[in-house]
Amino acid sequence: MDDLIYLDNAATAWPKPESVYKFMIEKYRSCGVNPGRSGFDKAIEAGDIVESLRKRLTSFFGGDEDVPERLCFTYNATDALNLIIQGTLSEGDHVVTTNLEHNSVIRPINHLVRDNNVEVTYVPFDNNGFVDPDEIKKAIKPNTKLVIVNHGSNVLGTVQPIGEFGKTCKEMGVTFAVDSSQTAGVIPIDMKEMNIDILAFTGHKALMGCTGIGGMCVRKHVDIRQTRSGGTGVKSAYPYHLEEYPYRMEFGTPNIVGIAALFAGQEWIEEQGIENIHSTEMSLAQKLSDGFKGIEGVNVYCCDDLNNHLSTVSINVEGIDAGNVGIMLDVDFNIATRTGLHCAPLVHKQQGIADAGGAVRFSIGPFNTDNHIQVAVEAVTEIAQRAKEISSRLIPK
Ligand code: ALA
Repeated sequence: MDDLIYLDNAATAWPKPESVYKFMIEKYRSCGVNPGRSGFDKAIEAGDIVESLRKRLTSFFGGDEDVPERLCFTYNATDALNLIIQGTLSEGDHVVTTNLEHNSVIRPINHLVRDNNVEVTYVPFDNNGFVDPDEIKKAIKPNTKLVIVNHGSNVLGTVQPIGEFGKTCKEMGVTFAVDSSQTAGVIPIDMKEMNIDILAFTGHKALMGCTGIGGMCVRKHVDIRQTRSGGTGVKSAYPYHLEEYPYRMEFGTPNIVGIAALFAGQEWIEEQGIENIHSTEMSLAQKLSDGFKGIEGVNVYCCDDLNNHLSTVSINVEGIDAGNVGIMLDVDFNIATRTGLHCAPLVHKQQGIADAGGAVRFSIGPFNTDNHIQVAVEAVTEIAQRAKEISSRLIPK
Protein backbone atom coordinates (compact mmCIF):
# COMPACT_ATOMS: atom_id res chain seq x y z
CA MET A 1 0.00 0.00 0.00
CA ASP A 2 1.39 3.45 -0.83
CA ASP A 3 1.23 6.47 1.47
CA LEU A 4 -1.99 7.78 -0.02
CA ILE A 5 -4.42 9.09 2.56
CA TYR A 6 -7.72 7.93 1.16
CA LEU A 7 -10.63 10.09 2.29
CA ASP A 8 -13.09 9.30 -0.51
CA ASN A 9 -14.99 6.45 1.10
CA ALA A 10 -18.36 7.98 0.20
CA ALA A 11 -17.45 7.34 -3.45
CA THR A 12 -16.31 3.82 -2.71
CA ALA A 13 -14.88 2.25 0.41
CA TRP A 14 -11.20 1.50 -0.01
CA PRO A 15 -9.32 -0.53 0.88
CA LYS A 16 -11.64 -3.45 1.57
CA PRO A 17 -11.09 -5.92 4.39
CA GLU A 18 -8.57 -8.62 3.45
CA SER A 19 -11.26 -11.27 3.93
CA VAL A 20 -13.25 -9.68 1.08
CA TYR A 21 -10.37 -9.81 -1.41
CA LYS A 22 -9.61 -13.37 -0.37
CA PHE A 23 -13.17 -14.68 -0.52
CA MET A 24 -14.10 -13.08 -3.83
CA ILE A 25 -11.00 -14.45 -5.56
CA GLU A 26 -11.31 -17.87 -3.93
CA LYS A 27 -14.97 -18.20 -4.90
CA TYR A 28 -14.44 -16.90 -8.40
CA ARG A 29 -11.71 -19.49 -8.88
CA SER A 30 -13.56 -22.37 -7.28
CA CYS A 31 -17.13 -21.78 -8.52
CA GLY A 32 -17.20 -18.71 -10.76
CA VAL A 33 -19.79 -20.32 -13.02
CA ASN A 34 -23.30 -19.25 -13.96
CA PRO A 35 -25.61 -19.79 -10.95
CA GLY A 36 -29.22 -20.85 -11.40
CA ARG A 37 -28.80 -22.16 -14.93
CA SER A 38 -27.40 -25.67 -14.57
CA GLY A 39 -27.43 -28.58 -12.15
CA PHE A 40 -23.74 -29.44 -11.93
CA ASP A 41 -22.06 -29.12 -8.55
CA LYS A 42 -20.23 -25.88 -9.15
CA ALA A 43 -23.37 -24.17 -10.45
CA ILE A 44 -25.16 -25.29 -7.30
CA GLU A 45 -22.29 -24.02 -5.13
CA ALA A 46 -22.43 -20.62 -6.90
CA GLY A 47 -26.22 -20.56 -6.51
CA ASP A 48 -25.88 -21.31 -2.80
CA ILE A 49 -23.83 -18.13 -2.23
CA VAL A 50 -26.45 -16.07 -4.07
CA GLU A 51 -29.40 -17.54 -2.16
CA SER A 52 -27.63 -17.44 1.16
CA LEU A 53 -26.75 -13.75 0.68
CA ARG A 54 -30.40 -12.97 -0.15
CA LYS A 55 -31.35 -14.40 3.24
CA ARG A 56 -28.57 -12.69 5.14
CA LEU A 57 -29.23 -9.26 3.63
CA THR A 58 -33.00 -9.57 4.08
CA SER A 59 -32.47 -10.15 7.75
CA PHE A 60 -29.69 -7.49 7.98
CA PHE A 61 -32.11 -4.88 6.56
CA GLY A 62 -35.13 -6.05 8.56
CA GLY A 63 -37.01 -7.15 5.43
CA ASP A 64 -39.61 -9.94 5.32
CA GLU A 65 -37.56 -13.02 6.19
CA ASP A 66 -40.16 -15.43 4.84
CA VAL A 67 -39.65 -14.04 1.31
CA PRO A 68 -35.86 -13.69 0.84
CA GLU A 69 -36.44 -13.88 -2.92
CA ARG A 70 -37.57 -10.27 -2.64
CA LEU A 71 -33.95 -9.31 -2.07
CA CYS A 72 -32.91 -8.79 -5.69
CA PHE A 73 -29.45 -8.05 -7.02
CA THR A 74 -28.71 -5.24 -9.47
CA TYR A 75 -25.51 -3.62 -10.79
CA ASN A 76 -25.51 -0.88 -8.19
CA ALA A 77 -27.89 1.46 -6.33
CA THR A 78 -28.47 3.60 -9.43
CA ASP A 79 -29.67 0.53 -11.29
CA ALA A 80 -32.00 -0.44 -8.44
CA LEU A 81 -33.33 3.12 -8.13
CA ASN A 82 -34.09 3.28 -11.85
CA LEU A 83 -36.04 0.03 -11.63
CA ILE A 84 -37.90 1.25 -8.54
CA ILE A 85 -38.79 4.69 -9.90
CA GLN A 86 -39.74 3.53 -13.40
CA GLY A 87 -41.61 0.53 -12.05
CA THR A 88 -43.65 2.45 -9.49
CA LEU A 89 -44.69 5.66 -11.21
CA SER A 90 -47.16 6.01 -14.10
CA GLU A 91 -48.54 8.92 -16.09
CA GLY A 92 -50.36 11.42 -13.86
CA ASP A 93 -48.64 10.25 -10.65
CA HIS A 94 -46.88 12.55 -8.21
CA VAL A 95 -43.61 11.73 -6.43
CA VAL A 96 -42.10 13.40 -3.36
CA THR A 97 -38.36 13.54 -2.95
CA THR A 98 -35.80 15.94 -1.50
CA ASN A 99 -33.05 18.39 -2.39
CA LEU A 100 -30.58 15.98 -0.80
CA GLU A 101 -30.89 13.39 -3.54
CA HIS A 102 -28.22 12.01 -5.79
CA ASN A 103 -28.66 12.07 -9.57
CA SER A 104 -29.56 8.38 -9.34
CA VAL A 105 -32.94 9.57 -8.03
CA ILE A 106 -33.14 13.06 -9.57
CA ARG A 107 -32.49 12.02 -13.16
CA PRO A 108 -34.84 9.03 -13.45
CA ILE A 109 -37.59 11.19 -11.92
CA ASN A 110 -36.84 14.15 -14.17
CA HIS A 111 -37.05 11.91 -17.23
CA LEU A 112 -40.52 10.79 -16.18
CA VAL A 113 -41.52 14.40 -15.50
CA ARG A 114 -40.29 15.46 -18.93
CA ASP A 115 -41.53 12.48 -20.94
CA ASN A 116 -44.39 10.81 -19.03
CA ASN A 117 -46.41 13.53 -17.36
CA VAL A 118 -45.26 12.65 -13.83
CA GLU A 119 -45.21 15.45 -11.23
CA VAL A 120 -42.47 15.90 -8.63
CA THR A 121 -41.99 17.89 -5.43
CA TYR A 122 -38.45 18.42 -4.16
CA VAL A 123 -38.59 19.10 -0.41
CA PRO A 124 -35.74 21.34 0.82
CA PHE A 125 -33.57 20.56 3.85
CA ASP A 126 -33.09 22.86 6.84
CA ASN A 127 -29.93 24.81 7.75
CA ASN A 128 -28.48 21.75 9.46
CA GLY A 129 -29.05 19.46 6.47
CA PHE A 130 -32.16 17.65 7.69
CA VAL A 131 -35.53 17.26 6.02
CA ASP A 132 -38.45 17.98 8.34
CA PRO A 133 -40.91 15.04 8.39
CA ASP A 134 -43.79 17.58 8.46
CA GLU A 135 -42.59 18.97 5.13
CA ILE A 136 -42.73 15.48 3.61
CA LYS A 137 -46.27 15.11 4.95
CA LYS A 138 -47.31 18.49 3.56
CA ALA A 139 -45.91 17.59 0.12
CA ILE A 140 -48.06 14.44 -0.21
CA LYS A 141 -51.09 14.91 -2.49
CA PRO A 142 -53.97 12.61 -3.51
CA ASN A 143 -52.02 11.47 -6.60
CA THR A 144 -48.72 10.88 -4.73
CA LYS A 145 -47.61 7.30 -5.43
CA LEU A 146 -44.09 7.37 -4.10
CA VAL A 147 -41.92 9.10 -1.52
CA ILE A 148 -38.27 8.40 -2.23
CA VAL A 149 -35.48 9.83 -0.10
CA ASN A 150 -31.87 9.19 0.63
CA HIS A 151 -31.05 7.97 4.11
CA GLY A 152 -27.67 9.69 4.36
CA SER A 153 -26.53 12.65 2.26
CA ASN A 154 -23.43 11.92 0.21
CA VAL A 155 -22.46 15.60 0.48
CA LEU A 156 -23.51 16.81 3.92
CA GLY A 157 -23.37 13.48 5.72
CA THR A 158 -26.66 14.09 7.51
CA VAL A 159 -28.79 11.02 8.29
CA GLN A 160 -32.50 11.60 7.80
CA PRO A 161 -35.26 10.55 10.22
CA ILE A 162 -36.52 7.90 7.81
CA GLY A 163 -38.57 6.12 10.47
CA GLU A 164 -40.69 9.26 10.78
CA PHE A 165 -41.03 9.58 7.00
CA GLY A 166 -42.01 5.90 6.86
CA LYS A 167 -44.70 6.35 9.52
CA THR A 168 -46.23 9.23 7.57
CA CYS A 169 -46.17 7.27 4.31
CA LYS A 170 -47.82 4.29 5.94
CA GLU A 171 -50.57 6.46 7.43
CA MET A 172 -51.14 8.14 4.08
CA GLY A 173 -50.97 4.96 1.98
CA VAL A 174 -47.98 6.03 -0.11
CA THR A 175 -45.13 3.70 -1.09
CA PHE A 176 -41.93 4.66 0.73
CA ALA A 177 -38.56 3.92 -0.88
CA VAL A 178 -35.14 4.67 0.61
CA ASP A 179 -31.77 5.07 -1.07
CA SER A 180 -29.34 3.63 1.47
CA SER A 181 -26.20 4.06 -0.67
CA GLN A 182 -24.33 5.96 2.03
CA THR A 183 -25.76 4.22 5.09
CA ALA A 184 -26.15 0.48 4.42
CA GLY A 185 -23.40 -1.17 6.43
CA VAL A 186 -22.74 1.74 8.76
CA ILE A 187 -26.17 2.81 10.11
CA PRO A 188 -28.63 0.11 11.23
CA ILE A 189 -31.70 -0.18 9.01
CA ASP A 190 -34.86 -2.03 9.97
CA MET A 191 -37.35 -1.91 7.12
CA LYS A 192 -40.25 -3.27 9.16
CA GLU A 193 -39.70 -0.96 12.12
CA MET A 194 -39.06 2.07 9.88
CA ASN A 195 -41.97 1.26 7.55
CA ILE A 196 -39.70 1.20 4.50
CA ASP A 197 -41.44 -0.50 1.58
CA ILE A 198 -38.47 -0.66 -0.78
CA LEU A 199 -34.79 -0.27 0.05
CA ALA A 200 -32.11 0.31 -2.59
CA PHE A 201 -28.51 -0.42 -1.62
CA THR A 202 -25.07 -0.52 -3.13
CA GLY A 203 -22.48 -3.16 -2.33
CA HIS A 204 -19.22 -1.27 -2.73
CA LYS A 205 -19.48 1.43 -0.06
CA ALA A 206 -20.02 0.73 3.64
CA LEU A 207 -21.16 -2.82 2.87
CA MET A 208 -17.54 -3.45 1.86
CA GLY A 209 -18.20 -5.47 -1.30
CA CYS A 210 -16.84 -4.52 -4.70
CA THR A 211 -18.14 -2.22 -7.43
CA GLY A 212 -20.80 -3.55 -9.82
CA ILE A 213 -23.08 -5.10 -7.22
CA GLY A 214 -26.11 -3.58 -5.53
CA GLY A 215 -29.72 -4.41 -5.08
CA MET A 216 -33.09 -3.79 -3.56
CA CYS A 217 -35.22 -5.32 -0.85
CA VAL A 218 -38.95 -5.21 -1.58
CA ARG A 219 -41.49 -5.78 1.20
CA LYS A 220 -44.15 -8.36 0.45
CA HIS A 221 -47.10 -5.94 0.37
CA VAL A 222 -45.66 -3.88 -2.52
CA ASP A 223 -44.81 -4.70 -6.12
CA ILE A 224 -42.62 -3.05 -8.71
CA ARG A 225 -43.76 -3.16 -12.33
CA GLN A 226 -41.29 -4.77 -14.73
CA THR A 227 -39.56 -2.38 -17.06
CA ARG A 228 -36.92 -4.78 -18.39
CA SER A 229 -36.81 -8.36 -19.54
CA GLY A 230 -34.36 -11.08 -20.50
CA GLY A 231 -32.90 -14.36 -19.41
CA THR A 232 -33.75 -15.80 -16.01
CA GLY A 233 -32.24 -19.26 -16.28
CA VAL A 234 -35.60 -20.94 -15.60
CA LYS A 235 -38.90 -21.41 -17.51
CA SER A 236 -37.11 -20.56 -20.74
CA ALA A 237 -40.11 -21.45 -22.93
CA TYR A 238 -42.24 -18.73 -21.34
CA PRO A 239 -42.36 -15.82 -23.80
CA TYR A 240 -42.26 -13.01 -21.24
CA HIS A 241 -40.14 -12.08 -18.28
CA LEU A 242 -41.13 -13.92 -15.10
CA GLU A 243 -43.29 -12.03 -12.63
CA GLU A 244 -42.08 -13.83 -9.53
CA TYR A 245 -39.20 -12.48 -7.45
CA PRO A 246 -36.22 -12.43 -7.67
CA TYR A 247 -36.54 -12.91 -11.46
CA ARG A 248 -38.96 -10.00 -11.66
CA MET A 249 -36.12 -7.60 -10.87
CA GLU A 250 -33.11 -9.59 -12.15
CA PHE A 251 -32.09 -9.85 -15.79
CA GLY A 252 -29.34 -12.00 -17.25
CA THR A 253 -26.28 -13.51 -15.61
CA PRO A 254 -25.70 -12.14 -12.12
CA ASN A 255 -22.42 -10.68 -10.90
CA ILE A 256 -21.23 -13.75 -9.01
CA VAL A 257 -17.88 -12.28 -8.02
CA GLY A 258 -19.64 -9.15 -6.75
CA ILE A 259 -22.07 -11.27 -4.77
CA ALA A 260 -19.16 -13.19 -3.23
CA ALA A 261 -17.46 -9.89 -2.31
CA LEU A 262 -20.66 -8.57 -0.77
CA PHE A 263 -21.13 -11.81 1.14
CA ALA A 264 -17.69 -11.44 2.72
CA GLY A 265 -18.16 -7.69 3.25
CA GLN A 266 -21.41 -8.14 5.12
CA GLU A 267 -19.85 -10.92 7.18
CA TRP A 268 -16.97 -8.59 8.10
CA ILE A 269 -19.47 -5.93 9.23
CA GLU A 270 -21.27 -8.46 11.43
CA GLU A 271 -17.95 -9.45 12.99
CA GLN A 272 -16.87 -5.86 13.68
CA GLY A 273 -20.33 -4.69 14.76
CA ILE A 274 -22.03 -1.92 12.81
CA GLU A 275 -22.17 0.35 15.89
CA ASN A 276 -18.43 -0.07 16.49
CA ILE A 277 -17.60 0.77 12.90
CA HIS A 278 -19.80 3.84 12.99
CA SER A 279 -18.61 5.14 16.36
CA THR A 280 -14.94 4.74 15.40
CA GLU A 281 -15.52 6.62 12.16
CA MET A 282 -17.52 9.32 13.94
CA SER A 283 -14.80 9.98 16.49
CA LEU A 284 -12.46 10.68 13.54
CA ALA A 285 -15.16 12.79 11.85
CA GLN A 286 -15.52 14.87 15.01
CA LYS A 287 -11.77 15.54 15.07
CA LEU A 288 -11.77 16.41 11.38
CA SER A 289 -14.70 18.78 11.64
CA ASP A 290 -13.35 20.41 14.84
CA GLY A 291 -9.97 20.81 13.14
CA PHE A 292 -11.52 22.43 10.07
CA LYS A 293 -13.74 24.71 12.15
CA GLY A 294 -10.62 26.08 13.85
CA ILE A 295 -9.08 27.22 10.55
CA GLU A 296 -9.69 30.82 9.47
CA GLY A 297 -11.18 31.03 5.97
CA VAL A 298 -12.65 27.51 5.97
CA ASN A 299 -16.41 26.95 5.76
CA VAL A 300 -17.65 23.61 7.10
CA TYR A 301 -21.14 22.51 6.03
CA CYS A 302 -23.77 21.06 8.37
CA CYS A 303 -21.41 19.70 11.01
CA ASP A 304 -22.56 21.69 14.07
CA ASP A 305 -23.86 18.52 15.67
CA LEU A 306 -22.58 15.16 14.51
CA ASN A 307 -25.45 13.16 15.97
CA ASN A 308 -27.40 11.58 13.12
CA HIS A 309 -24.44 12.06 10.85
CA LEU A 310 -22.11 10.02 8.70
CA SER A 311 -18.35 10.45 8.77
CA THR A 312 -18.55 12.75 5.76
CA VAL A 313 -17.39 16.36 6.09
CA SER A 314 -17.66 18.88 3.26
CA ILE A 315 -15.89 22.22 3.25
CA ASN A 316 -14.71 25.13 1.16
CA VAL A 317 -11.62 27.26 1.50
CA GLU A 318 -12.40 30.92 0.89
CA GLY A 319 -10.62 32.29 -2.17
CA ILE A 320 -9.88 28.95 -3.88
CA ASP A 321 -12.47 26.93 -5.73
CA ALA A 322 -13.16 23.38 -4.55
CA GLY A 323 -11.57 21.72 -7.58
CA ASN A 324 -8.26 23.48 -6.99
CA VAL A 325 -8.29 22.64 -3.29
CA GLY A 326 -8.76 19.00 -4.31
CA ILE A 327 -5.81 19.19 -6.70
CA MET A 328 -3.59 20.70 -3.97
CA LEU A 329 -4.65 18.02 -1.50
CA ASP A 330 -3.82 15.35 -4.04
CA VAL A 331 -0.60 16.72 -5.54
CA ASP A 332 0.95 18.41 -2.51
CA PHE A 333 -0.32 16.24 0.32
CA ASN A 334 -1.24 12.87 -1.26
CA ILE A 335 -4.78 13.08 0.10
CA ALA A 336 -7.66 11.73 -2.01
CA THR A 337 -10.98 13.56 -1.68
CA ARG A 338 -13.88 14.26 -4.03
CA THR A 339 -14.66 17.81 -5.13
CA GLY A 340 -17.40 19.46 -7.19
CA LEU A 341 -21.11 18.70 -7.10
CA HIS A 342 -20.84 15.03 -6.09
CA CYS A 343 -23.72 14.07 -8.46
CA ALA A 344 -26.04 15.86 -6.01
CA PRO A 345 -26.49 19.29 -7.63
CA LEU A 346 -29.56 20.35 -5.62
CA VAL A 347 -27.63 20.16 -2.33
CA HIS A 348 -25.05 22.60 -3.66
CA LYS A 349 -27.72 24.78 -5.23
CA GLN A 350 -29.61 25.08 -1.94
CA GLN A 351 -26.35 25.78 -0.10
CA GLY A 352 -25.59 28.54 -2.64
CA ILE A 353 -22.29 26.98 -3.69
CA ALA A 354 -23.21 25.32 -6.99
CA ASP A 355 -22.00 28.18 -9.21
CA ALA A 356 -18.76 28.47 -7.24
CA GLY A 357 -17.80 24.87 -7.97
CA GLY A 358 -19.41 22.91 -5.15
CA ALA A 359 -17.38 21.71 -2.18
CA VAL A 360 -14.45 19.55 -1.09
CA ARG A 361 -15.67 16.33 0.52
CA PHE A 362 -13.69 14.27 3.02
CA SER A 363 -15.28 10.90 3.72
CA ILE A 364 -13.86 8.61 6.36
CA GLY A 365 -13.85 4.81 6.25
CA PRO A 366 -13.02 2.07 8.72
CA PHE A 367 -9.33 2.02 7.79
CA ASN A 368 -8.61 5.69 8.39
CA THR A 369 -6.53 6.67 11.39
CA ASP A 370 -5.95 9.62 13.72
CA ASN A 371 -2.80 10.38 11.77
CA HIS A 372 -4.78 10.69 8.51
CA ILE A 373 -7.08 13.21 10.14
CA GLN A 374 -4.21 15.20 11.58
CA VAL A 375 -2.47 15.36 8.18
CA ALA A 376 -5.74 16.41 6.48
CA VAL A 377 -6.28 19.25 8.98
CA GLU A 378 -2.67 20.41 8.57
CA ALA A 379 -3.02 20.29 4.78
CA VAL A 380 -6.19 22.39 4.78
CA THR A 381 -4.57 24.83 7.24
CA GLU A 382 -1.71 25.32 4.80
CA ILE A 383 -4.04 25.67 1.80
CA ALA A 384 -6.13 28.27 3.67
CA GLN A 385 -2.94 30.15 4.52
CA ARG A 386 -1.91 30.12 0.85
CA ALA A 387 -5.38 31.42 -0.11
CA LYS A 388 -5.02 34.26 2.38
CA GLU A 389 -1.59 35.21 1.05
CA ILE A 390 -2.82 35.16 -2.55
CA SER A 391 -5.84 37.31 -1.74
CA SER A 392 -3.68 39.83 0.17
CA ARG A 393 -1.63 40.32 -3.02
CA LEU A 394 -4.63 40.88 -5.29
CA ILE A 395 -5.52 44.41 -6.30
CA PRO A 396 -8.94 45.23 -4.82
CA LYS A 397 -11.68 45.53 -7.47
N1 ALA B 1 -22.23 8.57 -5.26
C1 ALA B 1 -20.84 8.50 -5.08
C2 ALA B 1 -20.30 9.73 -4.41
O1 ALA B 1 -20.98 10.36 -3.69
C3 ALA B 1 -20.10 8.09 -6.27
O2 ALA B 1 -19.15 10.05 -4.59
